[in-house]
Amino acid sequence: MGIISEELAKRKLPSVLRFSDGSPVTSDNWEKRREELLDILSREEYGNAPPPPERVETETVKCEEHQYAGKAYVKSLRLSFDTDKGRFSFPVTEIVPTGKKKCPTFVTLNFRADVPDKYLPVEEILDYGCAILRVYYNDVAFDGEDNFKGGIAAMYDRAEYNWGKLRMWAWAASRVMDYLQNADYPDLSRVAIAGHSRLGKTALICAAFDKRFAIACANDSGCSGDAITRDKKGEHVKDIFKSFPYWFCDKYGTYADNEASMPFDQHFLLSAIAPRKVALGAALEDEWADPDSQYLSACAASEVWEMICGKGLVHPDRLPVPGDCFASGNIKYHLRRGRHFLSREDWQHYCTYMLDLR
Ligand code: GCU
Repeated sequence: MGIISEELAKRKLPSVLRFSDGSPVTSDNWEKRREELLDILSREEYGNAPPPPERVETETVKCEEHQYAGKAYVKSLRLSFDTDKGRFSFPVTEIVPTGKKKCPTFVTLNFRADVPDKYLPVEEILDYGCAILRVYYNDVAFDGEDNFKGGIAAMYDRAEYNWGKLRMWAWAASRVMDYLQNADYPDLSRVAIAGHSRLGKTALICAAFDKRFAIACANDSGCSGDAITRDKKGEHVKDIFKSFPYWFCDKYGTYADNEASMPFDQHFLLSAIAPRKVALGAALEDEWADPDSQYLSACAASEVWEMICGKGLVHPDRLPVPGDCFASGNIKYHLRRGRHFLSREDWQHYCTYMLDLR
């Protein structure tokens, strides 16, 4: 038995290649299993979300040409749509390389309202030829305890939809994807959803539920994101649910100190993105997220890609060390030095992976 198989065996993970009734998953019935994974994640962890609105309308509030040394235009957009309880709208910043068609495009959720932002090296991303659509997450749903009385949370009945805020932010990113369907610049086969930390968790949720995203880029997403929960270091269900119960549905809280009984682990979330691409970023000093458990999750999910299309995470038989970047398969993992942060170096990894997607 190899080192990684031993590490995975210790975690005692539920199999992603068995249906809940124990029957085997094959490449022929993979879509059915994917639906089952999404049902499990909705019921147990993130809550269920309303269906997409019929139509998303876009208004251009402001347009600034010749930005970033003339390399791009920046537009302030407002997306609006009907919900169960009336009209809802939220702002989006659109940054598009000048004169380019078929741009690889990043949809990204941000912690702060201003652009640029320390987590968003706009000019560098533009230099890769990529467009950016950026949403400030508090414009969609407030990241704090408000009893679901504000933002998109207030627009749907909680008795019907028990979504937590991670799922709400992810759902909003899908509305940006609705807008992109009719925009003239994106390469719709290369649209990524990217985010850091809680918004990295959000990026994975978004791509899992929305097949129009070709890549999920999840930076330092850790607990309830990319990292295996069972026996991880750092944060656990009891910690995250105590501090941020509103990110999840209530059922998730019942697994505090009881993770062995979860009928899922986070490799289910990664697997639900297959056969599309996943890029995971980890940081050496980010023990709260736990780089090894992030990596093992990718190793565990790999068997799905291997079954469907040959390559998942292509990696050596050892745990990762700083400087590692495994990018030759459909899951990419990099481990950089330093702390919890969405750095230039992380973005370089996401941009190169995006450009390799042809
Ligand atoms: C907290 C939380 C993490 C989360 C992080 C963030 O540390 O415990 O799960 O990833 O915030 O979003 O910055």
